[in-house]
Amino acid sequence: MGYEGRWKTVKVDVAEGIAWVSLNRPEKRNAMSPTLNKEMIEVLEAVELDAEAQVLVLTGEGDAWTAGMDLKEYFREVDAGPEILQEKIRRDACRWQWQLLRMYAKPTIAMVNGWCFGGGFSPLVACDLAIAADEAVFGLSEINWGIPPGNLVSKAMADTVGHRQALYYIMTGETFTGQEAAQMGLVNKSVPRAELREATRVLAGKLLEKNPVVLRAAKNGFKRCRELTWDQNEDYLYAKLDQAQHRDPEGGREQGLKQFLDDKAIKPGLQTYKR
Ligand code: COA
Repeated sequence: MGYEGRWKTVKVDVAEGIAWVSLNRPEKRNAMSPTLNKEMIEVLEAVELDAEAQVLVLTGEGDAWTAGMDLKEYFREVDAGPEILQEKIRRDACRWQWQLLRMYAKPTIAMVNGWCFGGGFSPLVACDLAIAADEAVFGLSEINWGIPPGNLVSKAMADTVGHRQALYYIMTGETFTGQEAAQMGLVNKSVPRAELREATRVLAGKLLEKNPVVLRAAKNGFKRCRELTWDQNEDYLYAKLDQAQHRDPEGGREQGLKQFLDDKAIKPGLQTYKR
């Protein structure tokens, strides 16, 4: 599928099964404007149906991942418009930044190449996995310019890092590096920026080897866990397991059992079944 020039504020390249989705306003440090939010909904919906894209990587052009919500276009200009407009503008932001991304049908990796501020934390945590450049700079800067964190930023912190660290950064607005983000579990790991793309490609490669239907059931099942009781989880997670088996065109469960029990060709504890 050709994506060239289709969107003004987002760039999409698909290669070797990976959709590299770049927020593309480097001159504004990829701040998320209403236009970008609207375009990202279209991007996510298009890539989800693109058979050539099996893993989605979310990154940013230039020195920023994203400098957060656009202070001019998302705040000041919308404040000056009709009050009801807030509803639509916020809905578009939420739609892609966590609703679509969080339960996305394909695996997602946030590749944090640089600045990551404020509203950027929602899509960061909504992505399944995250790799940052050591040099990336993160910050919950809202307190510095007069608002508490909005959208799902605080929820994203609560779901990933510890209580004390979350409140420390929410209340001080101090920045932290990619390495610190990895230590606190906000991202899976950090690597030198020069190695970031390759490290992301390697991680995406691991996901590409897995059964996509089962991968989706596994990640979405896990994400719902926190919100359900133990009883509900038992029911829900078994339902996911059955759903995956029913929907899986390649019969992964049978393949895996056969290759281990009958063919003695794999050790599932150590490697994936041969697709
Ligand atoms: N919203 C709107 N515009 C933004 C922006 C944002 N969140 N972040 C950066 N920009 C714009 C700047 O206004 C500037 O525009 P101009 O060239 O028209 O003047 C341009 O991007 C470059 O920004 P600049 O501050 O010169 O870049 P820098 O590399 O020196 O600093 C940051 C980068 C990210 C540290 C700095 O831009 C910043 O603090 N941005 C705000 C981050 C923030 O608090 N986000 C939370 C929003 S919820």
